[in-house]
Amino acid sequence: MCGIVGYLGRREAYPLIMKGLKRLEYRGYDSAGIAVFQQNKLNVFKKKGKVADLEQAIGAKDLNAQAGIGHTRWATHGEPNDANAHPHLSGDKKLAIIHNGIIENYAALKKRLESKGHRFLSETDSEVLVHFIEDIRQETGETLEDAVRIALREVVGAYAIVLMSEDHPGRLIAARKGSPLVIGIGKDEYFLASDATPIVEYTKDVIYLNDLEIAVVTAGELRITAPDKTEKPLFIQKVELELEAIEKGGYPHFMLKEIFGQPKSIADSMRGRIHAGNESIQLGGLTGYFDRLADASRIIFIGCGTSWHAGLVAEYLFEELARVNVEVEYASEFRYRNPVIHPGDVVIAISQSGETADTLAAIELAKENGATILGVCNAVGSSIARATHAGAYLHAGPEIGVASTKAFTSQVTVLALMAIALGRRKGTLPDHTFRELLNGLQSLPGQIEQVLRNSDRIKEIGYIFTYARNFIYLGRGVHFPVALEGALKLKEISYIHAEGYPAAEMKHGPIALIDEDMPVIFIATRDSSYEKIVSNIQEVKARKGRVIAIVTEGDQLIKTLVDFTIEIPWTHEMISPLLSVVPLQLLSYYIAVMRGRNVDQPRNLAKSVTVE
Ligand code: F6R
Repeated sequence: MCGIVGYLGRREAYPLIMKGLKRLEYRGYDSAGIAVFQQNKLNVFKKKGKVADLEQAIGAKDLNAQAGIGHTRWATHGEPNDANAHPHLSGDKKLAIIHNGIIENYAALKKRLESKGHRFLSETDSEVLVHFIEDIRQETGETLEDAVRIALREVVGAYAIVLMSEDHPGRLIAARKGSPLVIGIGKDEYFLASDATPIVEYTKDVIYLNDLEIAVVTAGELRITAPDKTEKPLFIQKVELELEAIEKGGYPHFMLKEIFGQPKSIADSMRGRIHAGNESIQLGGLTGYFDRLADASRIIFIGCGTSWHAGLVAEYLFEELARVNVEVEYASEFRYRNPVIHPGDVVIAISQSGETADTLAAIELAKENGATILGVCNAVGSSIARATHAGAYLHAGPEIGVASTKAFTSQVTVLALMAIALGRRKGTLPDHTFRELLNGLQSLPGQIEQVLRNSDRIKEIGYIFTYARNFIYLGRGVHFPVALEGALKLKEISYIHAEGYPAAEMKHGPIALIDEDMPVIFIATRDSSYEKIVSNIQEVKARKGRVIAIVTEGDQLIKTLVDFTIEIPWTHEMISPLLSVVPLQLLSYYIAVMRGRNVDQPRNLAKSVTVE
């Protein structure tokens, strides 16, 4: 949610920042801007629209500079327009700021500053912050670094900021609380960014700034201090990201690359975790925590969107395989209720980005109540990964398409490994089921390849339904969350209204929607609810609904009942969402492309939702 980039060093800052903004554009794409030093002056360019629009507006202007900052925005305060785009300037135009996050008490600060004569050009909270820093400097005569420190003490909310000052051309000041900020360390150069994607091309040495720390970057020196000004040691880590992982690699969209990358990402999520002839599962990050899981009075999964759907799948897995009491909560609801949490509860937070504000806040609430918190995250070193007591990473590689695909299948893979390991430990999982599940998981990459080979058929079906106005997705048992996920994918990238329901619930209301114009997608694989779902299909067909069914290969019965079938290989019911979701991802993708949608950057969305 908003991407920020900064650079100070020996290279040309402008092209480097532009490239960085394009890499971060998945975080927000309604406006963009940059500020560079030229002849010791701060020059700001900003524009509503994509980074490419900004680039076009700047055109062939000579922006020769060795330091600069850039921002790609997802609007929170104020509509997307040129004025609200970042960077924002102080009243004297000597300070420029880029900001990711929300300053919750900005209205009170703004009022205070206005009464002192400050005038604002935008509706943003970020502009208030830069004026506030300027005001403190003027009032107290403090250094810029200390003025930032004082200002941030008063700020309520979340931020990752980078500041440039005309009075200190060779210096960038950065700080974070609740929004991510990575510092890349090259030879005589420093990079600042919301994540490592703009940095890896130049250096693998990075420092993840911690909450409340302030970093001051000058030519040849980086200093990080705590709020009380004590200097912090520089904890340099190697980032493992490869450049190919963040490029499209010949695919027209990141989303398609990520859908087709699932055989590998699922294999990567399992790599090194299944041991000695399928005899044991080891999840290194959870060492020592399986006792807590085995003794848990309850497991509560928390997450948002697709990650919440992965939690719903986990509910079936953990209940069935490990016979444990499970609840699944939207992080955003959980945090604002007064939930009953016991020290015996284990909360498992699921997040691709590891930065989702609601999930982070829910973790803090559960922690305060004494629960053990485990994380299932993709982004290594992310805020959620750091806020949990322990966890298992997905190792799915960066997910850049805004609609989550490979993260979902890796989340379910890791959660399945956890549930199987827990069931084994508790003795609730018979040996033959244990082996069947592990064999099933290991066959998945090959089986997904098989589903992907069928993509032309899915594309044809997508073509037929391109202009449908609504869709219903139905599934039972472990396929109910898949129905929700299929509907969410279609909504977010094609803007077609879609609903996911448990198939049996249809007759309690949604059946009224069924007529010859309503496409209904059934997940109807051969498993424990097969006969029941066949009855539900007949109920829809009796009302002339148009049915597309995801079926197990070789199914003859359903073929005779429905309009279209998409076959997937058989696997154990408990892990079958990992296969059945793939055709739904592809169907949404093709429909969105045929409708001319911007698949990787759907309107109004952003990849990592760092505001509540
Ligand atoms: C949907 C999607 C979102 C995210 C949600 C949580 O395709 O991507 O619904 O799943 O915003 O994000 P993370 O997993 O990063 O916490």
